[in-house]
Amino acid sequence: MRKTVLALMAIVAALSASLAPLAGRTQAQDAPKLRMGLLPILDVLPFYVADEAGYFAEEGVEIELIPVSSALERDQLVIAGAIDGMVNDLVSTGIFNQDEPLIQIVSLARRAYPDHPQFRLLAAPRSNITIPSDLTYVEIGISENSVIHYIAQRILEAEGVNAADLSFRAEPNIAIRYQLLMEGQFKAACLPDPLAQAAIVGGANLIADDSLLVETQFSQSVLGFRSQVIEEQPEAVAAFLRAWMRAAEDINADPEAYRALWLEKTNVPDSVKDSYALPPFPTYEITTEAAWEDTVAWLIEQGIVESTASYAETVNPTFLEAIAPAAGDPAQGEALFTSLGCTGCHSLDGTAGAGPSVAGIAGEAGSMVVGLSAEEYLHQSIVEPAAFVVEGFGPIMPAYDTLSEADVAALVAYLMTLE
Ligand code: HEC
Repeated sequence: MRKTVLALMAIVAALSASLAPLAGRTQAQDAPKLRMGLLPILDVLPFYVADEAGYFAEEGVEIELIPVSSALERDQLVIAGAIDGMVNDLVSTGIFNQDEPLIQIVSLARRAYPDHPQFRLLAAPRSNITIPSDLTYVEIGISENSVIHYIAQRILEAEGVNAADLSFRAEPNIAIRYQLLMEGQFKAACLPDPLAQAAIVGGANLIADDSLLVETQFSQSVLGFRSQVIEEQPEAVAAFLRAWMRAAEDINADPEAYRALWLEKTNVPDSVKDSYALPPFPTYEITTEAAWEDTVAWLIEQGIVESTASYAETVNPTFLEAIAPAAGDPAQGEALFTSLGCTGCHSLDGTAGAGPSVAGIAGEAGSMVVGLSAEEYLHQSIVEPAAFVVEGFGPIMPAYDTLSEADVAALVAYLMTLE
């Protein structure tokens, strides 16, 4: 009896072994597949939004979302080839690429905005540290040789503090770093939002944040892929990025709609789960050469790497260039503006009708909705007017959501000429 079972098991094992390659082949024919390693942090929200909305499937790519619990685990999986891509940052990428360009950046994943910093420097509750210069010779809790360390230093330098007067203390576990700060065992620490916001709610003093680094673009996280994957599966990477951009645009248009998903998929302290304002996500943006060079300079100065891959080897803009919405033809847009009846509600001479006048709209569109560029705002105003209703007007504009992407682009291009 026992023997039969064993024999059977052997047959099953042999059978499944011989079927395995076949199964692999059928799957490959279905849809290309990419495996993404995701930390439980705010930066990964567009992945889950795209997944829930079915955007990956619509773009023809299968994306396996693999949760990782630490940056170390993520990095080990990348090196082992067990994941194809990830959200990481410039410091991490510089370390990955010190011998050869292992990782290529294909897009920004997040960045600091004026009202939405990513990282904040905090002093312990009830401490007498209140301004950046108080931090000289005070040990600042960081995670060593990480983006936190780099950004903490760059924020303080932007505040006029001399880097030579700074001292840091390493505590890589972010939950422990938070705890030590709140207990006063760390007099100061650098933390990402929303944890930093929770520290402030708990009484920590906000000293400075990386909204100071918006202009230099030093503070950002990125979408990185193994160079080998980029070479072997470029269509899958492009399809992934198209889906990711759609998800980011959805979040930007209506952040509150994704609060529940954010709470479900990432670590959010209870004290800020309702109050934290979800930030915008950058769309079609990529690391600048200046930001990359600054990170590399810091890595070398800290002795973390001797050298690393160049900007051209590391930052790959070809995917964004390929998927970015094509610029429309303004002359065609002007004709459409009349033929579609837009002029019935929108004057060109500054007088309001059923809708606001579009005179001068090119100059105003970029400051209407936080996180939306002028073009993104105009695009949204046409295909989804209810997402943002201009003050003083009713939500009466029909959604032109059946227009072709080329027609919408033409309308946007025309409106962008009305300065
Ligand atoms: C029935 C009237 C009506 C028609 C037709 C209409 N709109 Fe509108 N539109 C409005 C109203 C009302 C608003 C302001 C309320 C809102 O934001 O939804 C608006 C807002 C806008 C805005 C944002 C304006 C701003 O100042 O921020 C743009 C851009 C726009 N419409 C473009 C168009 C285009 C392009 C068309 C034609 C394809 C069009 N609209 C057709 C009524 C209309």
